[in-house]
Amino acid sequence: MSNNTFRGIDFSRYQRWLNRAVGAEAAFMVFDKAGIPLWGQDTPQAIELGLAIAAAGTDAAGPHRHDLDAGRTALYQTLGNSNIGQLGWLAVMVDHFGKQDAPVHIDQLAETMDDLAAGISDEYRYKDDLDAMAEELGERYEELHLIYSIDQHSHGQTEQDDKMFQSLLQSTAEHLNVDIVAFVKPSRDICLYSTSLSREIPNLDLVLVEMRGDLFRFVQSSGETAILNTPDDSRRVYIFTDMPYKVIASPIRSNGRVDAMVVLLNHAHKPDFTNADRKLAEVLANQLSHLSNTYLLLQSMGEFNQQFAKSLIEAVEAKDPYTRGHSERVHFLSMEIGRAMGLPADELDDLFWGSLLHDVGKIGIPDAVLCKPGRLTQDERTFINVHPERSYEILRHIKHLERAVLGARHHQEMYDGKGYPHGLKGERIPLHGRIIAVPDTYDSITSSRAYRAGRSHEVAMREIERVSGTQLDPAIVKVFRELVAAEPEWLQRFNIRREKD
Ligand SMILES: [Fe+2]
Repeated sequence: MSNNTFRGIDFSRYQRWLNRAVGAEAAFMVFDKAGIPLWGQDTPQAIELGLAIAAAGTDAAGPHRHDLDAGRTALYQTLGNSNIGQLGWLAVMVDHFGKQDAPVHIDQLAETMDDLAAGISDEYRYKDDLDAMAEELGERYEELHLIYSIDQHSHGQTEQDDKMFQSLLQSTAEHLNVDIVAFVKPSRDICLYSTSLSREIPNLDLVLVEMRGDLFRFVQSSGETAILNTPDDSRRVYIFTDMPYKVIASPIRSNGRVDAMVVLLNHAHKPDFTNADRKLAEVLANQLSHLSNTYLLLQSMGEFNQQFAKSLIEAVEAKDPYTRGHSERVHFLSMEIGRAMGLPADELDDLFWGSLLHDVGKIGIPDAVLCKPGRLTQDERTFINVHPERSYEILRHIKHLERAVLGARHHQEMYDGKGYPHGLKGERIPLHGRIIAVPDTYDSITSSRAYRAGRSHEVAMREIERVSGTQLDPAIVKVFRELVAAEPEWLQRFNIRREKD
């Protein structure tokens, strides 16, 4: 029951109805349950009447009589019915009842007031029902909007990393106007969150620790959505002690066991979380549970692919202990160059696999040739020169690597067209081939061989500058030069000798 519903009622219609029915101007008033005037005269006498009616506190249908002074009388009766309860009162003020020349007859007025009260009560009920339906619709819309946005995210993104979750949490935080939205899965050490802060949260780290710890254990053991609004909630002895934030935490189940949860967190100054928010949190938890399973599946497939690639590389590098780690280093530096060049995500994915597997073709080169310390004969060189093509032959059957394999195939081309396997020149050499060629050259100079120690970083850079424009693409050499000028930490990590050492 709300005064807002009353405010939506056009009482002037009821005033006209009353005037017509009694054939005179009659002062008509509506009061709420506390006797506060909602419609009608705004005079001290009207206010006094409202308070007197409320103080009398009768809930019998009426009408009841209240004499205001010697000249004026009010009739009043309750508004409302058994379905909606008592809403307030309506009253009519008239002059001198009972005389022959009285403008309004009491019986006629009482009957009209009955009709008015019934009309107003019905209109109130319809409006109230309508408001409730509008509110319900609003909540359903929020739910639908949230589900739609989750759906868009899960279809629109194919990344196998946290980005999909992150952007979903971000749009949920903004859409629901919640300070923090978090997805917590302690068993995998996952705590992803996004913020749409109404105010700063100075102890954010502690809040996240609390979520992963006590809050998760609480939700896990209860198996139900928990809502904490008030600071004196008895559960705050165990969770969010001394943290006044408002929290909803919804469990996410996997094989019947709660192994993750969704948390919505607001500052204390924001309105309490409602049942509608609880439903939204549960919808979000439900959707994230599906996404989480897909995400973990993709992640484990990604891990499997990487492990599989590593065992392939091990098979190659086991043949020549001096090349151990070469593929990893070339891969790492190629990715650094690719990122510095601002390659888009799908290209970086291709470069990832192309650079990691660029030497897989060496698996077919006889050990005697691959590990030969001295000069190679013409035939032995031919064996070596076919390895990029062989890498291509091995990998091209894997659909996912169709484009990635071009980098491996062409990493031995030279910028001036004198390389192998196809003698491509300049920009006709696929970009990834030109990228991989730079760290491949760098690593072959700085790594130790059976017959010589690895050269210094400076020697490698001088050699790279020397062959820039003939063997290597000058634009990529420039990117690499800028990368190493910043003295990156990998110079030490890869144990690369420096001239000053
Ligand atoms: Fe290589």
